Amino acid sequence: MEKLDDIVQEALAQFAGINDPVELEQVKARYLGKAGTLTELQKTLGRIPAAERPAMGVKFNAAKVQLEAALASRRETIQRKKLESQLAQEALDVTLPGRGIGSGGLHPVTRTLERIEALFHSLGFEVADGPEIETDFYNFTALNQPENHPARSMHDTFYLEDGKHLLRTHTSPIQIRYMEKHRPPLRIIAPGRVYRVDSDATHSPMFHQVEGLWIDESVSFSDLKGVIAEFLRRFFERDDLKVRFRPSFFPFTEPSAEIDMSFGDGWLEIGGCGMVHPNVLKNVNIDSEQFQGFAFGLGPDRLTMLRYGVNDLRLFFENDLRFLKQFN
Ligand code: DAH
Repeated sequence: MEKLDDIVQEALAQFAGINDPVELEQVKARYLGKAGTLTELQKTLGRIPAAERPAMGVKFNAAKVQLEAALASRRETIQRKKLESQLAQEALDVTLPGRGIGSGGLHPVTRTLERIEALFHSLGFEVADGPEIETDFYNFTALNQPENHPARSMHDTFYLEDGKHLLRTHTSPIQIRYMEKHRPPLRIIAPGRVYRVDSDATHSPMFHQVEGLWIDESVSFSDLKGVIAEFLRRFFERDDLKVRFRPSFFPFTEPSAEIDMSFGDGWLEIGGCGMVHPNVLKNVNIDSEQFQGFAFGLGPDRLTMLRYGVNDLRLFFENDLRFLKQFN
């Protein structure tokens, strides 16, 4: 029975070349399955002389045992190889540098606001707050800007769909809210976000303001000038910084002025200010015969740009980490 040996050799050679467990079982069936080559050959046993049959039977069994053993060892090899490649793939290279932990930092405008708060705090100002969604009353009317007042068109306002509310166009409504709850003497700043329909390199639809308010029995315009100049010199750490007050108009102050600071050869506008209009005090039931004071509104975004030498306001609000990381 040379044929038996041939089949065994052929099967062993095939098994040895297989690396896929499913394929191995399929090839096994080709030899040992119901219609397998070996099985078919075994069926012919009946035709050989009876005397030779027992010996052939032994040979067949030995052949089957040999193939099963080869299969078992191949299965094991395939599994081991698979495990090894998996381990190699998942291996940790402990010599690689670590990824580190990204540390957070403060936004440059936040840094400016904190700095402004600290400086005004040292001048005796407390920090007040108010809502970003305002009513027409607080944003305009109470600030001496009645309906149809031409000054309202100075602001391009985002109105909410309910027609009653708006995104505050300035921090000045905080003056009203604060004076409704506190009696003079009072001295506050109010930093916050404000909104206007406006967008270019120096205007963003959302930007920041810092409101200031000082009401007492004898607060004068020269106090206003002194406080603003002192603040700016400390903020920019420059004693020679010059401040200019340019006559202007705001409905809630009288007289009113724009605040300019010296910058290079020229001047830069960094806010508005004035003496609080008697009508504003009247709106919050403060006796304007007894009390008076000043208010101002500064642009901290502009101050941040100047302090750090940034020329496009929009960079502050795009939240590109490559930009923001430079301030920490
Ligand atoms: N609210 C003004 C604006 O947004 C800025 C301002 C001007 C605020 C004069 C004041 C002030 O408190 O006195 O344009």
